[in-house]
Amino acid sequence: MNAVINPLDYRRVLGNFPTGVVVVTAALDEGPVGMVVGSFTSVSLDPPLVAFLPMKSSSSFQKLSRSTTFCVNFLGAHQEALCRTFASKASDKFAGLDWLRAPSGSPILPGVTGWVDCALDTVHDAGDHVIVVGRVTALSTGNDIAPLLFFRGGYGRFSTSSLVAGNEPDLLTHLKLADVARPFIEELAGKLDLVATVTVRSGREIVLLASAGQATVSRLGERVPFAPPLGAVHAAWETPDVVALWIANLGADAMPADQTFAETLERVRRRGWSIGVDGPRHRKLQAEMAKALSAGHSPETVETLRRTVAETAMTHDPEVLAGADGLIPVGVISAPVRTPSGHAAFGISLTGFDRNLDRSSFDGVVSALLSTCGDTARAIARYF
Ligand SMILES: Cc1cc2nc3c(=O)[nH]c(=O)nc-3n(C[C@H](O)[C@H](O)[C@H](O)COP(=O)(O)O)c2cc1C
Repeated sequence: MNAVINPLDYRRVLGNFPTGVVVVTAALDEGPVGMVVGSFTSVSLDPPLVAFLPMKSSSSFQKLSRSTTFCVNFLGAHQEALCRTFASKASDKFAGLDWLRAPSGSPILPGVTGWVDCALDTVHDAGDHVIVVGRVTALSTGNDIAPLLFFRGGYGRFSTSSLVAGNEPDLLTHLKLADVARPFIEELAGKLDLVATVTVRSGREIVLLASAGQATVSRLGERVPFAPPLGAVHAAWETPDVVALWIANLGADAMPADQTFAETLERVRRRGWSIGVDGPRHRKLQAEMAKALSAGHSPETVETLRRTVAETAMTHDPEVLAGADGLIPVGVISAPVRTPSGHAAFGISLTGFDRNLDRSSFDGVVSALLSTCGDTARAIARYF
């Protein structure tokens, strides 16, 4: 028996499932044609097949179906206006567009994130739609940007969620605090001849808000995952739910079996500071962070970064700091600037160590850092 489904319910419920957006194009004798399609899908790898589902009554599809080839164009997040044009009944949707030809001759639209050129394979009947299966004849990625998404009747974009928060609600507060902290970190960096930075936790990320010292390139605005071992000073004085978020961000699959982060945080609280020991793993993490930042946090780079962060977990906050030679290889050392209620408002980190430190130099650096954090905490107290 067929259940009676209300068409409005069908649309509303199915609209809760997001889709990517493509424009299927073909070149006809009378000119190029194209239509927006949300029902595109990959089908088979061997042979390589893809499919989309046009409505039988679509006038654009009636034109498209006169071609034995077509090209599927993946729209990027910046192409909403182009999408609206191709979803309309405009007579010349290609007006003013500098399009190229795929090997089949079908149009490749400018700025798309990828395209798949196809030969028509089969057409299957499916209610008021048909399922058009295309055999892939050529394909390529395009503009390396986020895709356009369609969800509940509106457009949006994709952002990675495993480690990266999309919005920063308290950015203005953070900027004010960084402004107050600036003279303090400048003095600290000058005195120690190191790089001093202010970092703040914003959701699932740590954001670099200010920096002082010999750094040649501005790293302001850089974001790294708030996941162990990074950001221990942002977790150690926080509530259990923030600690849980910090650990969960690493992902169960990347979790080092022998690492107990509770112990790490206990040590950081006891010491009042957190250290990243310099070494090959620490340097690999720096390299992966630089890669993730320059690639604009694509899902692949964030995933690699997440795994590297996990590998590096053991290099932060070990009980014993000195190597066999008695020297301490410091990659980064951070301490919290705490609010009157004891939370970490932000962290101050020192980097740029060009040699391993003996115990007394190390103690000198730690005491200068802690005294700067204390002074800064007094200066920001009135904001809380
Ligand atoms: C996000 C989005 C997804 C769409 N997906 C499909 C689809 O999968 N199949 C389809 O037939 N039409 C789809 N459309 C509708 C057509 O793109 C478009 O409205 C149509 O080509 C214009 O009407 P016409 O073909 O009758 O001229 C979609 C429209 C939008 C905005």
